[in-house]
Amino acid sequence: MTSHTLEETTTLSAFPPPALSAEALPQLIDALVEQGWYLGTGVLDGDLCAELHAELSALAEHDALEAAGIGRGRELRLRRDIRGDAIHWLDRESLAQRRYLEAMKEVQQALNQTLFLGLFEYEAHFAHYPPGAFYRRHLDSFRGRANRVVSTVGYLNPDWPTDGGGEMVLYAPDDPERVVARVCPSAGTFACFLAETVPHEVLPTRLPRASIAGWFRRNASLGGQVDPAR
Ligand code: OGA
Ligand code: MN
Repeated sequence: MTSHTLEETTTLSAFPPPALSAEALPQLIDALVEQGWYLGTGVLDGDLCAELHAELSALAEHDALEAAGIGRGRELRLRRDIRGDAIHWLDRESLAQRRYLEAMKEVQQALNQTLFLGLFEYEAHFAHYPPGAFYRRHLDSFRGRANRVVSTVGYLNPDWPTDGGGEMVLYAPDDPERVVARVCPSAGTFACFLAETVPHEVLPTRLPRASIAGWFRRNASLGGQVDPAR
């Protein structure tokens, strides 16, 4: 390796490209305001998606994922007839996770500055859907715990075939039978929508499917007790 190449390599690794493409943010804000949901393809950095995908695959291989449930805290229930994914909460343990979470912080700041949403926190988990798994139509904010305001989903799957299944389907807030978007879970695709009003589902997948589902939260604290994460 010549010293020139070495220098280039060093410069590149010191300044990774933005995790979320610069054009995506203003488009995301406009789309959320106008229609309550945003969908962008090729907006998450390819190398970052590959690293996150490798991390999730390793967790799945080592049986280090937990079956996803319905509800929160003491009301958490396993319902394979409703959702079949296995998850791992992001905890900043890798550089890739930290890059993803930093990008989400930028989204949060932009949402707060332009839409005054008062979002104070972001929580996210990896999700691994084995072949045959799905997630029935649902809303992301739980009854009586309406503190999830905006949902995000980032997709990590390289070369997803058209017959791979596993699309996320978004429905109109005012007409839950009307499909407004079908999201192919290809690496680089990012979706964002209002958690309390946009019904959505994950169709049965034919191949192992990797995503990161996350939520911007408002503080729903009562009596001075901060609402716990998850
Ligand atoms: C969720 C969800 C969609 C996806 O976890 O609540 O809707 O495509 N996920 O992973
Ligand atoms: Mn959901």
